[in-house]
Amino acid sequence: MYNDAEILFAFRRHIMGRLLYDESNLPEISSLRAVNYDKIDKSTVEPVKRVGVLTSGGDAPGMNAAIRAVVRAGINAGFEMYGVTRGYHGLWKGEIKPLDGRSVSETLQRGGTFLMTARSQTFMTDQGVLKGARMMEAYELDALIVIGGDGSYKGARALARIGMPVIGIPGTIDNDIASTEYTIGYDTAMNTAMQCIDKLRDTASSHERCSVIEVMGRHAGWIALNVGIATGAESILIPEVPYDFNRDVLRVILDGRNTGKKHYIVIVAEGVGHAEDIAKQIEEATGIEARPTILGHLQRGGSPTLRDRTMASLMGIKAIDCLMDKRFNRLVVRQHGDITDVDIEEGLEMTKTITPDIIENAKRLG
Ligand code: F6P
Repeated sequence: MYNDAEILFAFRRHIMGRLLYDESNLPEISSLRAVNYDKIDKSTVEPVKRVGVLTSGGDAPGMNAAIRAVVRAGINAGFEMYGVTRGYHGLWKGEIKPLDGRSVSETLQRGGTFLMTARSQTFMTDQGVLKGARMMEAYELDALIVIGGDGSYKGARALARIGMPVIGIPGTIDNDIASTEYTIGYDTAMNTAMQCIDKLRDTASSHERCSVIEVMGRHAGWIALNVGIATGAESILIPEVPYDFNRDVLRVILDGRNTGKKHYIVIVAEGVGHAEDIAKQIEEATGIEARPTILGHLQRGGSPTLRDRTMASLMGIKAIDCLMDKRFNRLVVRQHGDITDVDIEEGLEMTKTITPDIIENAKRLG
């Protein structure tokens, strides 16, 4: 077996299509660890010249603002900037084009991502990662900035592990990235959901109904919890906390009715169950009419809020700062209110939980 430096060298040769080592001897990428640039002598590291940027996974409002910040700050730092379309799918297919300062005009206020995005199955394999790295070599990209969620970060980590420098910017409406207190798109998604639920409340209250609303969050209850607090929901069901239907839904609704309440809001994160099933159970058990609504992809669209635009802009600048300082393989994060960065390996090892006090506070408002 080779030592770390030899492994990276072997991968590099492999990516370049010049096999010096027996391919079957190369380890699996998952067994490697990305170089922590805070621990090496910077004078031995070549400065960055060309930088790629891509968005990956579910789109999030503010991703355009992050691309714009990366491109403009990158050009101001003297880098040549390149956009990769359709996330990692576009990377391994070589969908790479130059971006100048004007190419990001009029994008700040737009939802979605003008670079487009995808969930690439190919890139989940070592062969896919090598193909992506090969395209980085072909376009002479010295570093890649990845804007996306946890899955996108794992793709970035795989590239970093075979010696391709990366920087991650957190972009997902779910706010479920452990290393950071905030992810781009979260605020806009919550405001969109809140506005929809306010409208549903008008009709639920006119008909004395229960409105069961399913919000996004397959594995995370952040949107459900905060939107539930903001809309005065009777009951909030999230994947992180097991619930008891009788205690946490039925009794709460019945107690409300018995004290004169005329309408009820139940919020369900998609990871918990389907709004339709829960509405049916409520109606059957209480006789109160219950109507399900799935907010779905509505929550991912729309013009980003001020918070998302500013967060995205500052995080984009931070990504460029890391490249200027030759501090590669970093994740841009918000920690204790500051925008800073952490090592990609360490960042992906962290875990994030919803603190019990938020849940308790939500209950105290019922
Ligand atoms: O990761 C963001 C997210 O919006 C999740 O909340 C949701 O579960 C998922 O993406 C939906 O993904 P898709 O766009 O593939 O339906």
